Order: sequence, then C-alpha cells, then structure tokens
Amino acid sequence: MFYYYGRKKQIIRHYPKPKYDVIIEPFAGSAAYSLHEDNWKKKVVLIEKDEDVYKIWRWLIKNATDNEIRKLPDLKIGEKSSEFLHIIHAVTKMAFHFKTIKITPVLARNWEISKRVFISNLHKVKHWEIIWGDYSESPDVEATWFIDPPYKGPSGMGYRYSSAKLDYDNLADWTVRRRGEVIFCEGECGDYLPFHPLVEQKGIAGKVSKEFIFYQSYAGQIESGQLKLF
Ligand SMILES: C[S@@+](CC[C@H](N)C(=O)[O-])C[C@H]1O[C@@H](n2cnc3c(N)ncnc32)[C@H](O)[C@@H]1O
Repeated sequence: MFYYYGRKKQIIRHYPKPKYDVIIEPFAGSAAYSLHEDNWKKKVVLIEKDEDVYKIWRWLIKNATDNEIRKLPDLKIGEKSSEFLHIIHAVTKMAFHFKTIKITPVLARNWEISKRVFISNLHKVKHWEIIWGDYSESPDVEATWFIDPPYKGPSGMGYRYSSAKLDYDNLADWTVRRRGEVIFCEGECGDYLPFHPLVEQKGIAGKVSKEFIFYQSYAGQIESGQLKLF
C-alpha cells in the first residue's frame, strides 16, 4: 500500500494464490500480499508490532478519505520532514531510526506515487482489521497465512523490531502449528524451516537478492497430528 523497506510488491506474483477466505499477515509492513489482485476482497487481518506502522494502517482503515489524501501536500525537495509516513518513503532500513529526513527527489517522487495509490486503493482496505501487537497474538484460525518477518541476518536489521529481536526457533515452531496454509518468506540466511528458492530480485545498483519460500498446506488434521507438507 505504501513504499516500505522489505515490501513484497515487486515479486508478489510469484507467491501462491490464497486458498482460504481469510488472509492473515502477522508481519504486516505495507501488506503487499493482501492488496495483490483480488486478495483484498477476503477477510484480511494484519498484525504489526511497530506502533508507527500500526497507526498508518489504523488511519487508512478507519479514518482516511479520498478527499483528505488528495489534500495532503506534496513534498518539496531539500526541505525536511518529521512525519514517519514520509520517512518510510525513503525505503531504507535506516529510516526507522530517523526523527527527521531531508526530502530527496526519490522520496518526493515515491510520496507522489503513494498518494495516488492510496486514493485508488483506499476502498479495498476499509473492511480490513489491524492489530497492534506481536505476531504470536494473531487470531488462531484457519487461514492463508502470509508470513514475512524481518529476514534473519543483516537484511532484517534496521526495522524498529528487527531480526535481532526475533527468536526464529520460536517463530518456526509457531508457524508449523498454523491451521490452513502458510506462505513464508525468507532470504539467504533462513535456516530454521525447509526453505526453497523462489526468485531472484534485482535491487539498487544491480544488487541481486535471493528470495526463499516455505510453503505448508495443512489439511486440518491438527488432533491426529498428521501434518501434510507440500
Ligand atoms: C519484511 S516487513 C513486512 C513487509 C510486508 N510483507 C510488505 O509487503 O510490505 C516485516 C514487518 O514485521 C514487523 N515486525 C517485526 N517484528 C514483529 C513481531 N514480533 N510481530 C509483529 N510484527 C513484527 C516489522 O515492523 C515490519 O513491518
């Protein structure tokens, strides 16, 4: 929905389509999966631990109107902003630690694009739910789980709740107990679930990052303990 470090917008078409009527993103960020194609029409539940990111979603879901967004001023190159919503449009992992930022041409352009995206997509998110909390506080229901945590290792650093703060063994244990299907994203350092290569993504300055996926489809036999992995 907005420019965000680690967002999946550019590669989202490579992930499986949701099989369930409910989509849960326990690491919401800008929620690229829930907004992709018709996914937004389902019941969508986002969980986000960073209060500033949560507040953006709360605003978009509960308060924002097309008119209000249209009136948001453009950003002027060279000026400064202390708005978190502006700062994340710099799309750098360090953005989470900036109190103010100098508006660059890239940031100004990203903001201009985001405003247009907000206006054309706002109606899609009005029935969504956003929960401020830890991923483990997600509702324990059968769903399509799109799990995209800060990646283990250096690329997941920088977020206010970064890879350094996550216990990946606990996350893996929690993940395999989800009912429904799990689509789990990781990078090259992911070693706590059986990840498979998904796609290579070209980033800034031609730097290639390798994306990995863990997919689990749970046929619903939680009591019998028969876990079906595909
Ligand atoms: C890789 S980003 C998600 C990107 C998202 N899929 C997108 O397309 O924009 C990971 C997100 O998880 C959040 N996060 C980190 N630790 C968390 C936790 N323990 N519980 C919930 N959210 C957490 C971060 O603040 C960040 O927004």
